[in-house]
Amino acid sequence: MDEIFRVKDLRKLFPIKGSSLLRKKRRYIHAVDGVSFHINRGETFGIVGESGCGKTTLARLLLRLTEPSGGKIYYEGQDITSLDRKGLKELRKKLQMIFQDPYSSLDPRKTIFHIVAEPLKVHRVAHGRALEEKIKEALALVDLPASRDFLEKVPDELSGGQRQRVGIARALVLGVEFIVADEPVSMLDASVKAGVTSLLMNLKQRIGLTYVFITHEIGLAYHTCDRIAVMYLGKIVELGKAESVIKSPLHPYTRLLMDAIPPLLPDEQWGQRVSERGEIPLSIEAPKGCRFHPRCALAGRECLLDEPGLEEVTSGHYVACPKGGPDGPLK
Ligand SMILES: Nc1ncnc2c1ncn2[C@@H]1O[C@H](COP(=O)(O)OP(=O)(O)O)[C@@H](O)[C@H]1O
Ligand SMILES: [Mg+2]
Repeated sequence: MDEIFRVKDLRKLFPIKGSSLLRKKRRYIHAVDGVSFHINRGETFGIVGESGCGKTTLARLLLRLTEPSGGKIYYEGQDITSLDRKGLKELRKKLQMIFQDPYSSLDPRKTIFHIVAEPLKVHRVAHGRALEEKIKEALALVDLPASRDFLEKVPDELSGGQRQRVGIARALVLGVEFIVADEPVSMLDASVKAGVTSLLMNLKQRIGLTYVFITHEIGLAYHTCDRIAVMYLGKIVELGKAESVIKSPLHPYTRLLMDAIPPLLPDEQWGQRVSERGEIPLSIEAPKGCRFHPRCALAGRECLLDEPGLEEVTSGHYVACPKGGPDGPLK
């Protein structure tokens, strides 16, 4: 299959403010701690995990909105890990992001016209009548009116769902092929979530987009994604086709995420409860061994010693837990 992105051992550390005053050694949050995967053209690649596990940081790294601390990023086979300003600007023409918060991601002082026009102006793609046409086309794609009255509104005059549609129109207006949607419906009312989700999925089919779809709701990932990467404290702990990951979860953490949603399958198919909800720790200094072990009901002595790497268990389904491996109790 045609590959659009590949990342190798990608890392992002954030220094903890004030830590160097208290200790000789500066301390860091390991927001993304060595992840490797690829994304196929045309697929929806899900990134799933609880808040704080590094999803947004990973998204921002992919689009080069955040400088990586280590590792490599390849887009269309080209190493984009270190690009100059001009290279980055070219990249932005092809890769866009839809943000989680439709309230803070739109400038409250700008009209809808100016918000959607901005990428076209920055990249000098169109002006005058052609610019207006492109804005109208983008608004039509997201089922918003392109009347003069609507174009002159400011974000405060719009509902949450309408704002997120404006955010999607802004992401599409340049004719991009790759979009990262960072929890695009998590801040919307339940009544409009389904509409915006199905809009995103329809657009993907109509325009032929590739998506990274980030969510903390594994059930939503099941309905929207082709493959899913489950993240815990900066690491991918499970990766595979959505169907396999959801119906045969191999990592105790994936099972924990599944426990948090209404069952998609009859109870007897879920097997035993294997982990406690507990609190997600900060990814400062990950626990030695498997970083999930403090919350894992299956953890044995070996889990305290070595950090498991991702192993392929069945075709294309990877897990970083020996318990989920071919000989483990979860298989
Ligand atoms: N700019 C930043 N400066 C310092 N720490 C950050 C920054 N961005 C994210 N973090 C930290 O990195 C970790 C991962 O955050 P984030 O990527 O936002 O996770 P998620 O999107 O999964 O909720 C968290 O502990 C968060 O506090
Ligand atoms: Mg986030």
